[in-house]
This record gives sequence, structure tokens and C-alpha cells, in this order.
Amino acid sequence: MGTGLHAPILDWYAENARDLPWRRTDASPWAILVSEIMLQQTPVVRVLPIWAEWMERWPTPAALAAEPPGEAVRHWGRLGYPRRALNLHACARAITTEYEGQVPSTYDELRKLPGIGDYTAAAVASFAFGHSHAVLDTNVRRVLARAVRGEEYPPKATTTPERKLAESLLPALDAPRWGVAVMELGALVCTARAPRCADCPVAAACAWRLAGRPAYEGPERRGQTYAGTDRQCRGRLLAVLRDAHGAVPKAALDAVWADAVQRERALDGLVTDGLAEVLAEGTYRLPS
Ligand code: ADE
Repeated sequence: MGTGLHAPILDWYAENARDLPWRRTDASPWAILVSEIMLQQTPVVRVLPIWAEWMERWPTPAALAAEPPGEAVRHWGRLGYPRRALNLHACARAITTEYEGQVPSTYDELRKLPGIGDYTAAAVASFAFGHSHAVLDTNVRRVLARAVRGEEYPPKATTTPERKLAESLLPALDAPRWGVAVMELGALVCTARAPRCADCPVAAACAWRLAGRPAYEGPERRGQTYAGTDRQCRGRLLAVLRDAHGAVPKAALDAVWADAVQRERALDGLVTDGLAEVLAEGTYRLPS
């Protein structure tokens, strides 16, 4: 089941793929690894400038590894979920010391790097090294949920049946291209809230469309609110540390968030996560 999807989706991709720099044939494994971490939970348009800046500044893992971790956090800018910057820095150091500066090529080696989960290991092994792995990001999972399982949305967390299905659909030839093609279809056509079935190359075979696009019935899918959250507060505090070169007095942090209880909690969280350091005199800075 499902192999009838291959040709229409691959043909659609050939016509409609965005020209993204990490998909070009000259993108290094490091460039691809950085892009995949940045793209998690973050739209392509926000990633593009930060990724370009990182590639210019740190074209190799060794270049980033030579810097203190705070520089990775500083140049993460406003991408959000800044622990990803620390993870990339830790990856750069591990790649430099354990793999002579070359991003390892197998899923199992990649999976052992700091902060690299199943998705990222599969994506890098596939897109950078041409190996055959199911890449189950949220777009791919949604396309398969609809086209094959007839459901509007996939389960909250990836399940074994989803994985089995995705693996059964891997084409013998050029699995990496298939993975990125399904991902692109999910990003551009089979979108979460307003799918454009009229533009879909597999509309005629789509189980969800054929069933009349039944509405999702599972547990509530929370949209992410941001205003007023600890995450927003952490973002404000971290922006102050990023913009300062050196130590920041506590008063400068106090000035950017009114609620003292929330502010202290957020600041403690930044320190606990290694995103900020306390200096002896009660001042703060990015990690050294
Ligand atoms: N191309 C390769 N991986 C991608 C991703 N995670 N998001 C968007 N485009 C991609």
C-alpha cells in the first residue's frame, strides 16, 4: 500500500521544491546538521538569515568548538528554544574531539551526539549522507496520517505504527529525495490548518480526502501561546545578556519584566539550563 504515492509526490517536488541553501548539493553535512536543529519548531523564513550567519562565522564544527558556548547562544538571536544553540555547540565539540572534525555519517553515531534525537539523526544520515531512513517530522507525519491513515492529524508523539508505515513506504531508490519531498508537500500543500487539496498531487488517492475530510477527534491540540509565558520572559532576559558584551547587573534584567516571581523563576531556569552564568558580584552573563 502507498507506493502509488511515490511518482506523483516526487514529480510534484521536482516542480515545486523551494530552493533552500541546505538542500543544495554543495551543502556540507555540518551545514545540514545546523539547519535541521534550527528548523525544529521554527519556520524556514526565520531560520534562513541565522543559518547563513552561522555558516559564515562557523563553517566547520571545529570553528564553533573553538568558541565559548555563550557565543552560540548570542548568535542564536531570536530563533527561540535556545538550548538548541548549546546543543549545537556541544555537538561541535564532540565532533571535533571524537570524529576529527567530521560529522559522523551513520544514524547510530549521530544519535549519540548531544541533543540529537531520532528525527535529527535520521534527517542528517539521509540528507547529508544518502542513507535510507524514515524522517518523521511533523509535516511528514501529517501527510502520512491523511493520505494513508485517513486522519486529519497524527498522534501527539510518534508511534510504532507510524514508524512502520513510514519505513514501509521508503522507496528502494533515493529514499532521501522521497523524505524531503513528503516534507515539502506537508509544508506547502498539506498544511495543518488549511490544506490545499486542489493543488495536491495525491488528492485522488488521499484516504482523508476520500472520507470527506473528517475532523480530528483526538485529545485537544493546544496552540502555543507565548505572551506572558515563562518562555517569553526567558527570551527577554536572554536578549539582554546577548546584547551586552560582558557582565550584566541584575537591575538591567529586572527592568525588562515586571512580575518579580516569574522573572526570578525564569532567570533560575536560564542558569540551570546553562544558558546564563552568575558572576560573584550578582551579575550575569552568557556561559563562558
Ligand atoms: N529540507 C530539509 N530538511 C528540512 C526541514 N526540516 N524543513 C524544511 N526544509 C527542509
